Amino acid sequence: MPANKKFYFGTNTKMYKTIGDTVEFVEELQELTDDIDRDKVEIFVIPSFTAIKDAHDIVKCKFLKIGAQNMNWEEQGQYTGEISPLMLREVGADIVMIGHSERRHILGETDIEENKKVLCSLEHGFITLLCVGETMEQKQFGVSDEILRLQLKIGLYGVKHEDSERIWIAYEPVWAIGENGVPATKEYAAKMHGVIKKTLSGIFGDDHGKKIPILYGGSVNIQNASELSKIRDIDGLFIGRSAWDAKDFNKIIRSVL
Ligand code: 13P
Repeated sequence: MPANKKFYFGTNTKMYKTIGDTVEFVEELQELTDDIDRDKVEIFVIPSFTAIKDAHDIVKCKFLKIGAQNMNWEEQGQYTGEISPLMLREVGADIVMIGHSERRHILGETDIEENKKVLCSLEHGFITLLCVGETMEQKQFGVSDEILRLQLKIGLYGVKHEDSERIWIAYEPVWAIGENGVPATKEYAAKMHGVIKKTLSGIFGDDHGKKIPILYGGSVNIQNASELSKIRDIDGLFIGRSAWDAKDFNKIIRSVL
């Protein structure tokens, strides 16, 4: 991790932790990472909706950011089972994650829906974490670059240049995520992060585009975190399983620092 750039560490706890589990996790993580300079390192946790308020309430000011795993693009309406930006604001979410691979591929979300969510999330002042990534099939057809460009160009369509300051990107190749996932090699991750960086510069211009942090996710663990963090266009790590124990998450963070 280059000394002069801010580095990001986040975990998405998916549908695993209850309110009690989340509070315990956040409290422990906060304690373990207390000495880390927050001007250089951003740490965030994205728990289930039900745990956001309790997690937010125990976090010391600006110490850890708390996010939501999804959000609807309307403030209110006939959307049974959905969650609105006003509701997430009310419970103290700082970040809204949009377009996680499991929402795209299990729950059928489209790029056009992700775009509506991105615009709505920015309008409501959230840091907006847009997730992108190709499937194994798309990789085998040799269209990974095109898929990433498509997801970014549609997902970020209409975003004002000044709002890009609140955009974070997570590159999570679908084939690398979860129990059957295989982490991307450092060469492959470097190439794809390069494609994303270039596409963001194309959309927002170099001034804005180059400042958008791009996090890598998909089977990050204590063995590969440090190596991945050294790649020029990787600005952070977005972790699932290996970070769900606060001690392990802290170890990964320290292995990079
Ligand atoms: P894993 O680290 O468990 O592969 O999950 C990554 C992820 O989906 C983070 O959003």
